[in-house]
Formats: sequence, structure tokens, C-alpha cells
Amino acid sequence: MDVARIRLTELSSCAGCAAKLGAAELHGVMQRVSPATNDRVLVGYGTNDDAGVYLLENGTALVQTVDFFTPIVDDPYDFGRIAATNALSDVYAMGGRPLSALNIVAFPEDLDLAILARILEGGNAVARAAGVAVVGGHTIKDTEPKYGMAITGVVDPTKIVTNAGARVGDVLVLTKPLGTGVLTTARKRGLIEDRDLDEAIRWMTTLNDRAATAMLAAGAHAATDITGFGLLGHAINMARASGVLLVFDSSKVPFMEGVLELIDRGAVPGGTRHNAETHAAFTDFASTVAEAVRIGLSDAQTSGGLLVSVAPQRVNELIRDLESSGALAAVVGDVREGTGIEVL
Ligand code: CO
Ligand code: CO
Repeated sequence: MDVARIRLTELSSCAGCAAKLGAAELHGVMQRVSPATNDRVLVGYGTNDDAGVYLLENGTALVQTVDFFTPIVDDPYDFGRIAATNALSDVYAMGGRPLSALNIVAFPEDLDLAILARILEGGNAVARAAGVAVVGGHTIKDTEPKYGMAITGVVDPTKIVTNAGARVGDVLVLTKPLGTGVLTTARKRGLIEDRDLDEAIRWMTTLNDRAATAMLAAGAHAATDITGFGLLGHAINMARASGVLLVFDSSKVPFMEGVLELIDRGAVPGGTRHNAETHAAFTDFASTVAEAVRIGLSDAQTSGGLLVSVAPQRVNELIRDLESSGALAAVVGDVREGTGIEVL
């Protein structure tokens, strides 16, 4: 078998974080489950936060998360790097420091194991760059390949950044442009070339570590990373958990090159379409917001950036730190009294 000629994305029915179950469906399921919990759980199921936080006896806290998905790009090494970057992201979004990782692998019996080796090499390269030790993992036979990591980190319990702390008057800052769902779907359908995915792959393999350091230095009130539920889906979790209204200026939201045109041409992943339908119920769009932008704001991201809620007097400091760390620093909206989301 010629490893180089296998297109990994052809082995998966839906790609990346667009493959996750819908937020509303998941909420319905979790309502039927009584979670096993105790008073050491500082952040659990309740607020739909990025990661769980558990207080240890020595006063530090564990931050734990898991993420895995089907191939979002054809190159196995890039797939591994993207999946690992994405898995680490939830720890950074909470203001934590990742320490160790476990690989999670599903792999078809008849597929060349050299591909799996490349996937794992990619994941390890990212872990190494993040200073994270890969300490084990688990594999299972499956018709579709899947890869990701379970991450354990630590966080100072007095410095946890949840999605519940946004305050009226805060400014909202986004650290990566949107559009990975649309672009990877367009590539899968042959609407664009491999090189048109370069920008998306570069962002999907950019760790949120330095953005998180900048956010902590600026005393951010709340944060979340943008993944499968799209900007609006993760924003509504922040709005609800914080008891505020988030107002976005859609003209300030950065999209990757070609994304809005591709949406107009119909390159919309199923997960993004589903998000957009769900998000319409709690989002008040100004009539001037184009259809492609509305869908783009719900695009299921893989390994997206952080959405940070920060005091207005600290925002310039945050932007300066983000820009010098190589992240994007887009002021995309602000926090007001009310509930839900408004898009201008
Ligand atoms: Co997250
Ligand atoms: Co996640």
C-alpha cells in the first residue's frame, strides 16, 4: 500500500470537531444522567466549560479534558498535530498548564500501520513543543480512523479562567480567524486545492499556550476555546454561564481566506449547518448581516482560538501581548446587560 497516496479524509464520514454530537442533543442526554461528583470538583458538567477542574489535597487543582476525532486533513502527520493541538486547547482555555497526555486511537484493521505511526509522531511533536509528556494510550479497531488525547494539567485554583466570569463592560477578543470547517469540507469536496488549506493547517497547529499566557497576564475574566460548536455556540455557553449578553460586531470577526465565498458556494459542513440552525434560536442578527457571515459565525472549528472576555482598561495590554506572541488579536465585540447573543 502506498501510504503517500491514501487520502485520510476519504475514510471518514465527517471531519474534525464537526463530527461531535449537537449541543442541544447532548444537553438532553446529560439531563438524564446524575453525575458522580463531590465537593472537590471545582468545575464540572454544570457550566459546559472547556475542562473539568478537581481540587487536590495540596491546594493545587487538576484540569482534565479529552478530545478526539476523525481525520480532518489527508496528511497523517498533520492530522496528528492538529488533534493534539486541539486536545491541549481546553487546558489553556481554563488558564491551566498541561503536564501529561494519553493517546486515544481508533484504527482500521486493513490500513497500513505506517499511517498510524505518522499520526502518533505528529501528536508527539506537538506534545513535545508544549512540554507535555505522552505517558500511554489506548487503541481500538474501528472502520474509521480516529485520534486524539486525554490531557491532564494543573491550575492554580485562584486563577481558573472559566466561561462564567464575563462582566458587563468587558471587551471580547478572538485569537484565531474562523473557517476551518468550511475550508476542510471544501477540500474534501474538491472545491479547493491542498495549498488552499495551508492557512487553516497553520492555525489548527498553533498552540493556544501563548495566547493563554497573555490572557492570564491581562487578568481575563472569562475564556473559552472555539471548537465544534462554532463561535456562537461557545459564546452562548459563556453568555449563559456569566448571565450576560454578548454583542458581536460581525465586520470585525476575522475569517480565513476564501471562507465566505465557499459558504456562498455551498461548502458548509453538516455540523456547521446544524450549529447555525440551533444558534438562530438565541441569536439576534441585525438585518445587515449577510447569510454567509451568519453561517460562518457558527462554523464548527477544529483547534480554534480563544474567545477572551477582558476588562476594557486591560484590552490594549492583551492585544499587545497576543500580537507579540504570534496570535491574532481581534476585538470582536463586548459584554452588555441582558441574555443571549446579538450580532451587528
Ligand atoms: Co473547549
Ligand atoms: Co473540547
